Amino acid sequence: MKTLLRLATAVLGVSAVAGFDIVRDYSGQNFFSGWDFYGGWDNLTLGDVWWLDQSNATTQGLAYVNSEGNAIIKVDNTTNVPLGQKRNSIRITSQDVYDLGSLWIIDVNHIPYGCSVWPAFWTFGPNWPQDGEIDIIEAINVMGNNQMAIHTTSGCTHGSQNQLGTTIGTDCSLPAGCVVAETSPNSYNSGFAAAGGGVWATQFDATGIYIWFWSRPNVPTSIAQANATSSVDISQWGTPHASYLADTCNITQYFSPQNLVIDITLCGDWAGTQWNYNASCGNSGPTGLCYNDCVVGPGSPRYDEAYFDISYIRAYTTGVATSSSTATATSAGASSSPIGITAPPSGSNSQGSSGASRLKSDSRTEWGILISILSMVIGALSIS
Ligand SMILES: *[C@@H]1O[C@H](CO)[C@@H](O)[C@H](O)[C@H]1NC(C)=O
Ligand SMILES: *[C@@H]1O[C@H](CO)[C@@H](O)[C@H](O)[C@H]1NC(C)=O
Ligand SMILES: *[C@@H]1O[C@H](CO)[C@@H](O)[C@H](O)[C@H]1NC(C)=O
Ligand SMILES: *[C@@H]1O[C@H](CO)[C@@H](O)[C@H](O)[C@H]1NC(C)=O
Ligand SMILES: *[C@@H]1O[C@H](CO)[C@@H](O)[C@H](O)[C@H]1NC(C)=O
Ligand SMILES: *[C@@H]1O[C@H](CO)[C@@H](O)[C@H](O)[C@H]1NC(C)=O
Repeated sequence: MKTLLRLATAVLGVSAVAGFDIVRDYSGQNFFSGWDFYGGWDNLTLGDVWWLDQSNATTQGLAYVNSEGNAIIKVDNTTNVPLGQKRNSIRITSQDVYDLGSLWIIDVNHIPYGCSVWPAFWTFGPNWPQDGEIDIIEAINVMGNNQMAIHTTSGCTHGSQNQLGTTIGTDCSLPAGCVVAETSPNSYNSGFAAAGGGVWATQFDATGIYIWFWSRPNVPTSIAQANATSSVDISQWGTPHASYLADTCNITQYFSPQNLVIDITLCGDWAGTQWNYNASCGNSGPTGLCYNDCVVGPGSPRYDEAYFDISYIRAYTTGVATSSSTATATSAGASSSPIGITAPPSGSNSQGSSGASRLKSDSRTEWGILISILSMVIGALSIS
């Protein structure tokens, strides 16, 4: 596998580019092509949702492209859920995987929020936790701000502070992971949407993992003026809001190529634990219990704000090795790959979480990974 990665690097590295070239644009009517829908209950974070398969999601109107061309991903707010049953929601995983050297930009107009609601936009490698996890957007209930995090096996810590956010955890192998709290205003809850939404950019690099957030009024022109085919220049973005530097966490060692995930669960291991639920929502219902007070009963108005409204997600690559180390660098994300990089989500809820861990693991085989890499190379070649 290592050999193949290096081969991929060699093949893709020949065309050096300034900035980041786009390899995949998820937007408009094509937003939902290239994702797998989970199709099962949330057995990963033990939330009180049933994540629909694609046909039910479409039929029930929980995943669609609206008249403005934005992707809507939402919790069911039309069903009166009886005690003992779960509420329908969505979890989608990108079929493409993205290697070191990638950059992901998500432009969002609305993030799900409200008591019991736990949304996330995040990434993970097929064999969790060995392959690492990056949480880009993640918050619960009526928290005031977004939290970023990485999760790894032991030996990766968050040491250097070259970032605007506030470090909360420094051992990335602990259940909560290396959490960095956003300190810029309007990164979650009603304030986010009221400000017109915002943009997150994540650079997944051998030198480190860097996450930026801009509320709508502050989105840089390099992003605001980018389109579905242009490259993007990150040189004027300034200090990231979260920086995980390779000097205390060997990114090449702790992270494999990553799948992107968008999901919304309800209650579960983080939002629904009694302490967390009580802290922000405990007085909002008759029982003080997340499931009983929120999930059961009518969906509206309780879940009227429990939706993502996404303008686009774009994946970029430098196309060149980004470090002097053994960085495998380069792209993934074959936009028209003939080989499906499908990784049916399965998972193990191996940790009791006290934080933001997404608790996931995928059991993709080495062979599957091999095929993925090959298809990435083929896809990348067919683009250029
Ligand atoms: C999807 O709908 C079919 C038919 O109603 C049902 O049998 C199936 O269980 C549903 N699947 C999910 C994941 O909701
Ligand atoms: C996208 O941006 C590039 C670079 O600015 C420009 O050349 C191209 O015409 C734009 N495409 C569209 C469809 O606007
Ligand atoms: C980082 O990990 C890679 C892959 O395991 C290894 O080849 C490299 O030597 C490591 N770098 C350092 C500085 O330990
Ligand atoms: C949470 O609130 C409920 C209802 O008010 C109460 O019964 C329970 O003891 C509280 N639990 C914690 C951990 O504070
Ligand atoms: C569900 O929420 C949406 C906004 O997300 C709202 O437009 C709609 O009216 C709500 N549905 C019901 C039945 O209230
Ligand atoms: C979760 O459910 C899926 C099927 O929907 C299954 O393949 C997987 O093994 C389950 N994971 C756990 C941890 O139970």
